[in-house]
Amino acid sequence: MSPSLISNGYCSPARVEELPCAAISELNSRLVVPDNAERDILSDSCPLPTIDLSPFLAQRFEAPNSAVQELCRRVADCLSSTGCVVIKDPRVASEDNSHFVDLMERYFSQAAGVKHQDARPELHYQVGVTPEGVEEPRCIVDPACLETIKDQPPGHRATVPTGPDPKWRFMWRLGARPDVTEFQELNAAPVLPAGFPEWKSVMECWGSKMLDTLTSAAEMAAIGFGLDRHAITNVMHLGPHLLAPTGADLSQHSMLGSCYAGFHYDLNLLTIHGKSRFPGLFVWLRDGRRIPVRIPDGCLFIQAGKQLEYLTAGHVLAGMHEVICTEGTQAAVKAARAAGRSTWRISSTVFGHVQSDQILQPLGHFAKAPTAAKYAPVAAGTFVQHELEAINLKKA
Ligand SMILES: [Fe+2]
Repeated sequence: MSPSLISNGYCSPARVEELPCAAISELNSRLVVPDNAERDILSDSCPLPTIDLSPFLAQRFEAPNSAVQELCRRVADCLSSTGCVVIKDPRVASEDNSHFVDLMERYFSQAAGVKHQDARPELHYQVGVTPEGVEEPRCIVDPACLETIKDQPPGHRATVPTGPDPKWRFMWRLGARPDVTEFQELNAAPVLPAGFPEWKSVMECWGSKMLDTLTSAAEMAAIGFGLDRHAITNVMHLGPHLLAPTGADLSQHSMLGSCYAGFHYDLNLLTIHGKSRFPGLFVWLRDGRRIPVRIPDGCLFIQAGKQLEYLTAGHVLAGMHEVICTEGTQAAVKAARAAGRSTWRISSTVFGHVQSDQILQPLGHFAKAPTAAKYAPVAAGTFVQHELEAINLKKA
């Protein structure tokens, strides 16, 4: 696909007061701060509403009543108006996230040479470890992206990436894969790092919980969009879902403004994050405002990727985001050092995907939207391959 889509991928003329998310109007009075790093300190809670999945889960196998339908509409509206949603899922405990983050801190703190044994560049790093300095923010190779940043208003401008991301990543595939597929390379055998006997069980436990939450949110969004409730989850079935935590060494990269993950959107359907021990994630709302993500304890954060934009013909736009070092990050590093804790910043992330052989195209009534022509049918696996080439993970 054309890299120029990135410049159309997040910013729309939608006015704040037209946005249906109740909490968004509250943002108006809170987010006029001139400096990006300062804003991270001043806004000490995530201004996005938190949606509790409990009522939906209690009725999951029944026709949704009006209260559940309203909840589903809130999920759909929030994704459409902001590109993201904060979720509370009673099936997921904070301790699960902590256990996982503990493991990843130990893994990433190993010597680089040890971690390199887990890299699979021949598989485009889609399993195992991706070393620091490999993944490139799309802005590095896309002049339109740099133009987009230039046009952003002061106080909401992205950090201009100047090189590859300094973060490491580990890819662990989640769930079953199809027996027959045109896209075998995306569905390779997992890498089991040496010296971590608990690796598989911890990865499977946390990954499957996050994927379950993501799947429920996808089902709720489909109901909220007025689609068949399984319209999105059906195309996710046997998808190349990935648990893909990142690790940034804050003992090496703790200068104010250091960019851990440059301004970009995610190529997949939906991305879900557990709470990180270090702040630094910023997202852009559909109206162009940049806000820090504060995930309440015990909650999860979901952001729309490019495949959801495709399925909804742009009703939901892929959410732009970046991870940088702020004063808040530095304060957390200082506190971690004082307490003798790790200073690796772990993001516990799951990428939910459309199954590779499925045709990516607007679903249901979205196929009749005037914007549908911008989303020509393409196999999801082909789409992913083109996107990976654009960010240097797959050589064309
Ligand atoms: Fe991302």
